[in-house]
Amino acid sequence: MRWKIAISFASLIGLSTAQLARYVSPSDSSVSFSLNIPTSTSNSGSGAIFFQVRGPATGKSWIALGIGSGMTGAHIFVVYTDGSGNVTVSARAGQGHFEPQFSSDAEITLLGGSGIVGGSLIANVRCDNCLSLAELSVTNTRSNWIWADKDGSAIDSSDVEANIQHHDRTGLFTFDLTRAAGGDSSNPFVQSAQSSASVTATGTGSRTSGGSTPTSTNGSSNGSGDGDGDDNDYNLGSGSSGASTGVSNITKMLKVHGILMGLAFAVFFPLGAIIIRVMPGAHKADVHMVVQIIGFGLSIAGLAYGVMLAEDLRYLKETHPVIGMVVMGGLFFQPIVGLIHHWLYKAKGQRTILAYIHTYWGRALLILGIVNGGLGLDLADNTTGGKIAYSVVAGVLGLAWLAASVLYYVRGGSKAAGDAALEKPLSSDGLRE
Ligand code: HEM
Ligand code: HEM
Ligand code: HEM
Ligand SMILES: *[C@@H]1O[C@H](CO)[C@@H](O)[C@H](O)[C@H]1NC(C)=O
Ligand SMILES: *[C@@H]1O[C@H](CO)[C@@H](O)[C@H](O)[C@H]1NC(C)=O
Ligand SMILES: *[C@@H]1O[C@H](CO)[C@@H](O)[C@H](O)[C@H]1NC(C)=O
Ligand SMILES: *[C@@H]1O[C@H](CO)[C@@H](O)[C@H](O)[C@H]1NC(C)=O
Repeated sequence: MRWKIAISFASLIGLSTAQLARYVSPSDSSVSFSLNIPTSTSNSGSGAIFFQVRGPATGKSWIALGIGSGMTGAHIFVVYTDGSGNVTVSARAGQGHFEPQFSSDAEITLLGGSGIVGGSLIANVRCDNCLSLAELSVTNTRSNWIWADKDGSAIDSSDVEANIQHHDRTGLFTFDLTRAAGGDSSNPFVQSAQSSASVTATGTGSRTSGGSTPTSTNGSSNGSGDGDGDDNDYNLGSGSSGASTGVSNITKMLKVHGILMGLAFAVFFPLGAIIIRVMPGAHKADVHMVVQIIGFGLSIAGLAYGVMLAEDLRYLKETHPVIGMVVMGGLFFQPIVGLIHHWLYKAKGQRTILAYIHTYWGRALLILGIVNGGLGLDLADNTTGGKIAYSVVAGVLGLAWLAASVLYYVRGGSKAAGDAALEKPLSSDGLRE
């Protein structure tokens, strides 16, 4: 939905002015990455694209942008000072978690407006073959990009093979390429700065609206803008910061997915399983049903986020998403079997084979799901604190569940006096299971 709006939006607004998608580092608003796909390229599906890497003039050793979803396989552009007031853009091929080495594959040209300008380090770059090199489609609304930077003293080298140190920060984001399309400039970063409107965006890279006031500016022809590093100096062709970036927030999706799945598998499902075993009275099956259906709903919502994440990060074949999808697939039958069992029980006054299927299938899936939560935290490199928190919650509820089930069997399972109603046709309300 949002993407559809974005697409029609992009086609509505002036395609004659350069359109820039922009991502601002969440940890330092003076570090940003912008992208423009000129109209000719977006129409034909191939051709040059433009990108800009921008950061503070001092305090950074290097800043890099890469096309890809992780270091491995990424086409990386590392930017550092060249020692004479300009910048060096070093195209490198990421091959793993180690220093990417120079690669001449990318045909890049440093454009005007680059350099140490107005307190900023700016690299305006045209890449003639990036689209084909990275196999990027101009219609991709969620193309994967990475960035990284390193604090420290300037490298001051014009050597594209200069040594760089391990980063202090890294990140992953997506650009909606349809929102970066527009314009026919040979240097959109300078040209658009000269046009009449610019949008002041609030510099976090989030697309939340509000607070964007089109201001008439003077854009500086040298591309430095007003130099505060915080303003979007470029004409985005609209008065809304909603169009200022085409970034989907992976951090946010990750958090939502983790919370929904954690609640479902580590809290609701075990709780529901405990309830059906220890709750006294006639309504335990009702309460179990309600609790499990809530958990089921949460997990379905979490699944949607998980799939988006896995698509964005290209993790669909990793162990965690695969197990997750298997568990979710298996879970689909659980409420249905539970309900049919319940109805049959009401009709026959006797447990059927479905009770065992529901119980053992349910146990297997829940255990697998709980373990998979741990794998997710591992995959996402969550903090030790996060992992401990999850283990404690899942562990406590898991043990309580085990205790409840053991207790149930010790008491004689469904044959026990307390559960005798299960076997008796006269439990007319049928809810005593
Ligand atoms: C000396 C150069 C580099 C070394 C030794 C290096 C090493 C590593 C290592 C060990 C990791 C795993 C997490 C961590 O320990 O931080 C990592 C992750 C990452 N690096 Fe680098 N890196 C280098 C340069 C770069 C550059 C130039 C980029 C440019 C975009 C980059 C982007 C990333 C990203 C996005 C991640 C997280 C995603 C992933 O795991 O692939 N790295 N890097
Ligand atoms: C996603 C949804 C559900 C999950 C994950 C689930 C899970 C479970 C689990 C794990 C148990 C066994 C507890 C133990 O370890 O001893 C169980 C038992 C049971 N569930 Fe569900 N359940 C779900 C939905 C339902 C629904 C909709 C009903 C309908 C009323 C239902 C009725 C029952 C009954 C009657 C039992 C006891 C079976 C017996 O021993 O006779 N469940 N459920
Ligand atoms: C049993 C069901 C699942 C559980 C309990 C679960 C739980 C989690 C948790 C706790 C995290 C870590 C969140 C964080 O650190 O903030 C996570 C991450 C993740 N999950 Fe799941 N998840 C499940 C199913 C799925 C499915 C079905 C998919 C995709 C098809 C998926 C894809 C992912 C991805 C891609 C990540 C993030 C990896 C990263 O950022 O490096 N998960 N999951
Ligand atoms: C940096 O180099 C580019 C490409 O040669 C040039 O267009 C630009 O004007 C230079 N910037 C400065 C500040 O000299
Ligand atoms: C993503 O969401 C997180 C948490 O809501 C927020 O702190 C961060 O600034 C957002 N980042 C981007 C790039 O939107
Ligand atoms: C805009 O630029 C012109 C010259 O380029 C300058 O005279 C004028 O004061 C500037 N206006 C603002 C608002 O900075
Ligand atoms: C670029 O323009 C700004 C403002 O117009 C000015 O302050 C700065 O000195 C200029 N920088 C260069 C390198 O010309």
